[in-house]
Amino acid sequence: MPARGNANPTGLRRRHGHHNKGSLRSIQNILFVTLVVLGLIYYRVSVYLLQGGKTAAKGTVHNHRPLDTQYIHELQEQGLLLPSKTLNTYQEWRDYATQLASLTPEKIVKTLKLLDPFGVRTFEAKLLEAESEKKAFLTQEELRSIFPCPTSSTTQQQEQQRITLPDQRNSDKARAFRNGTEPYFLFFQHLRKAGGTNFCSLAQHNLPKKQVPKYYCMPDYYWEAPGRPCAGCFSRFDTKTITKHMKEDGHKILGNEWDAFDPDHYFDLPATFATSFRRPLDRALSQFRFECIEDRGCKIKNVTKWWDKRSKDLTNVYVWTFSNEGVRKLSIGTTKADSERRQKVLGRALDVVARFNLVMAMEWLAYAPNHVQRVLGFRDTKTLTERVRPHIAQHKRDDGQERNVMGAAGIAKASWTPENYLPPETYTRMSHDLALDEILTDAARRMFLERLVCDDVSMFD
Ligand SMILES: *[C@@H]1O[C@H](CO)[C@@H](O)[C@H](O)[C@H]1NC(C)=O
Ligand SMILES: *[C@@H]1O[C@H](CO)[C@@H](O)[C@H](O)[C@H]1NC(C)=O
Repeated sequence: MPARGNANPTGLRRRHGHHNKGSLRSIQNILFVTLVVLGLIYYRVSVYLLQGGKTAAKGTVHNHRPLDTQYIHELQEQGLLLPSKTLNTYQEWRDYATQLASLTPEKIVKTLKLLDPFGVRTFEAKLLEAESEKKAFLTQEELRSIFPCPTSSTTQQQEQQRITLPDQRNSDKARAFRNGTEPYFLFFQHLRKAGGTNFCSLAQHNLPKKQVPKYYCMPDYYWEAPGRPCAGCFSRFDTKTITKHMKEDGHKILGNEWDAFDPDHYFDLPATFATSFRRPLDRALSQFRFECIEDRGCKIKNVTKWWDKRSKDLTNVYVWTFSNEGVRKLSIGTTKADSERRQKVLGRALDVVARFNLVMAMEWLAYAPNHVQRVLGFRDTKTLTERVRPHIAQHKRDDGQERNVMGAAGIAKASWTPENYLPPETYTRMSHDLALDEILTDAARRMFLERLVCDDVSMFD
């Protein structure tokens, strides 16, 4: 049993109280935490209303769970978009997500923040609170008590509320990879600073050494190709060449880090597909910290200047990755045509992610072991609860977070918080530049969560 009362990762745990009786203390704990949380919500909503809401502060406590009708009405009047009905199938979730993408970036961001249509932000707040309180990961049952499986696919067909149904993953290929059929391999779409290195380490623990490419799970480092040598740049090769190399070299994992995923061709590969998401602003800030603050090829120390320079290629980088289409112009454009293009490109990216056999959320990896084992057949999943940093010898960070025993609360502690680190205008600009990625990430997180807590999809794993 860990000692209570010290090491407080979120600041939510109370510090006062002199009673010895455990039950009284825990009631006080609950009351206190509830008050603090209500206070925070009240504060955030007030700030929002003062800053952006036309309706101005009214003094009402707007709790963001049971959203009262009046509050929802106010938000809708501001142009935020709530689903008009319960979303039960992938198609319905997709329709809603693309409608949302048609709004201005500002309204997209506000809708996700204040209305949490995918339910993942409310879940995350509850998860961080529960982990901090417990000072450990939750059990599967505790996780389910926070996010129960939305109704199963076999009962009540009317009200499934499942973005993962009908399941669109190719389970034959996943099985072929698991049972070692030649030439099936694992295709990992590596979103930078979103858990990729950890994933490669997971593969190293589970595949024979000769099956894992030596250079960060990127086999093409050794392949012959015209131009500059590159690793994790697979757009240079057609699928036939990729398959041939993988077979000849006996490699079983391919990490594509620098190029977009080409949905028109890559799904033809003899492969099972995996990826890992991270909250977009956290990811961007982590890249800045890794490359610029820790001096890996970038000299800019001012994050605003860095974004000025990099927003060209980092705007909605997730949506770019999964749609394989240029997104910068449509992301910030204000015309009707831009709005329509946003819908199209988001829909395309979402369709691709829905076909990935394994979609993970980096912040919640500690809950993935069973899911990862079912999909990939990997048994040694301890890396999922460890933080692995690339090039660690190059610049070691002694923040006590090399091993994550705190679950999502531990990750939150180790990251720089965008709200705190970024100047307000930069924060707003980056949020808007990453608005479509926010939608895609929330949808992907919901997929991951549903697959964690719902038993009825394991036959598609
Ligand atoms: C492996 O999986 C594939 C795809 O489902 C299947 O056709 C094949 O029979 C399996 N092989 C073994 C040895 O289980
Ligand atoms: C960072 O750069 C921006 C834009 O050039 C500038 O306005 C700001 O003052 C800089 N911040 C610091 C701390 O130098």
